[in-house]
Amino acid sequence: MPITAVSGSASGIGAAICEQLRQEGHTVIGIDLAGADVEADLSTPAGRDAAVSAVLEKSGGVLDHLVLCAGLGVSAPSPGLIASVNYFGATALLEGLSPALEKGSQKSAVVIGSVASVQPGSDQSPIVERLLANDEAAAVAIANESGESMAAYGGSKYAITCFVRGKAIEWGKRGIRLNVVAPGAVETPLFEASKEHPKYGEATRNFVAPLGRNSKPAEIASAVRFLLSEQASFVHGTILFVDGGMDAMMRPKRF
Ligand SMILES: NC(=O)c1ccc[n+]([C@@H]2O[C@H](COP(=O)([O-])OP(=O)(O)OC[C@H]3O[C@@H](n4cnc5c(N)ncnc54)[C@H](O)[C@@H]3O)[C@@H](O)[C@H]2O)c1
Repeated sequence: MPITAVSGSASGIGAAICEQLRQEGHTVIGIDLAGADVEADLSTPAGRDAAVSAVLEKSGGVLDHLVLCAGLGVSAPSPGLIASVNYFGATALLEGLSPALEKGSQKSAVVIGSVASVQPGSDQSPIVERLLANDEAAAVAIANESGESMAAYGGSKYAITCFVRGKAIEWGKRGIRLNVVAPGAVETPLFEASKEHPKYGEATRNFVAPLGRNSKPAEIASAVRFLLSEQASFVHGTILFVDGGMDAMMRPKRF
């Protein structure tokens, strides 16, 4: 029976992933601020360390899969917090739990990115360079000074995607597959809050996928389950857009 740790397990996409994995027979270790097997705040280094220690304890130091789903949207209290949770809340768990994954029998991980990572300007966000340099204090300061939650969100998702792709060689040699799922608009509390945001709400409501609807969390969970499984045994270092065609609509000639 696979042992799988999932961050952001208490709500939205993470909760749907946990439900599907449990139905499939996984032993799931959920990580979240509250209402989870491991309760930890991934916005701080101490909280991330506590999460890693607790997961290692609960799993006996051996994990088959890891899913990093915890994240904040544009309605978060500050842009700096978005950068901290969406980037360092994922990288710290990837780094801290990779030795446990190496001991697992299936060895695969998925990070939830976003189609926002390929929106124009996300790759140019000034926080990206600081995130990739592992400089949390500077990234948070730049994000908070700008006051731009959307830039912090898109930048954090672009940076975490770069981090994953940058690990493809090292993790491949260690036998651990690592991929990104990039959702479009998914009907979760995060998305509902974004639609009501005073500055970004209208753009969020108007950004409709070619399929003409938003997705349900279960549709993202299905893609994650595929990437974790042996059915995806040669899929590594890639980005799977589960976005109803948004990426193709925005940049049809780039891939
Ligand atoms: N909903 C969308 O439209 C959408 C689109 C693209 C990507 N995503 C990404 O999907 C992921 C899940 O989002 P969702 O829409 O399910 O949102 P959600 O708000 O329903 O769930 C996010 C979860 O992350 C947890 N979390 C937030 N801050 C945390 C912290 N400091 N420590 C520990 N846990 C924390 C929350 O408590 C919550 O349970 C996020 O990374 C988000 O960026 C969502």
